[in-house]
Amino acid sequence: MEKGERVKPSRVRLRKLRRADFSAFIPAWNDPEIMRLTTERQFQLTSQEVFAKLEEHLTNPKMHDFVILVDGEIAGHIVVQLKPHHRRYEIYIAIHDKDFWGRGVGTIATLKACDWFFRMFPDEFELELGVFTLNTRAIRCYEKCGFKRVRVMKRSFCPDELIMRKVRETG
Ligand SMILES: CC(C)(COP(=O)(O)OP(=O)(O)OC[C@H]1O[C@@H](n2cnc3c(N)ncnc32)[C@H](O)[C@@H]1OP(=O)(O)O)[C@@H](O)C(=O)NCCC(=O)NCCS
Repeated sequence: MEKGERVKPSRVRLRKLRRADFSAFIPAWNDPEIMRLTTERQFQLTSQEVFAKLEEHLTNPKMHDFVILVDGEIAGHIVVQLKPHHRRYEIYIAIHDKDFWGRGVGTIATLKACDWFFRMFPDEFELELGVFTLNTRAIRCYEKCGFKRVRVMKRSFCPDELIMRKVRETG
């Protein structure tokens, strides 16, 4: 396959996170470029720390984690979680396999997760996310999925964060 070829939606599936998936997260969560785009954390995580965090995700009923499969192989991670302080649900995604960046997988996976969320939670009307303003690829992906810009949170010691929101489609 040509690098850069767009991925057809039929090749992309979401599956609930399992313990057997945890080791696939170790390189991605320590990748300098992914860290720069997604987190304030400046230090690497040990395997044990990655496993402990994912165990927390798996056992926390407010967190709904999926792996993103392309042709059955893990290509990334998407999570929908209830933020207790905000009392609203937020979504987070990372495609771990950089060969897939910019080829439509993020948009397909985000749309699938949004569909899942609005079906599972019929009383919820909106889904939010926070994205660093420097992360223009992610912002473009979210806009394609129907998220709108809400506000920018200025930060002193880390990149500014854009809050985006998608509302339930009616009719
Ligand atoms: C952000 C992410 C999930 C998006 O998934 P993706 O599969 O790369 O995104 P898509 O290909 O579906 O959409 C990206 C869009 O941005 C465009 N794009 C690519 N690079 C870009 C850039 N540097 N700036 C602006 N737009 C860019 C693509 O062309 C595409 O738009 P198009 O379909 O109109 O051509 C993925 O790139 C990723 O995991 N990045 C690292 C982790 C991350 O940033 N996560 C987000 C945390 S908030």
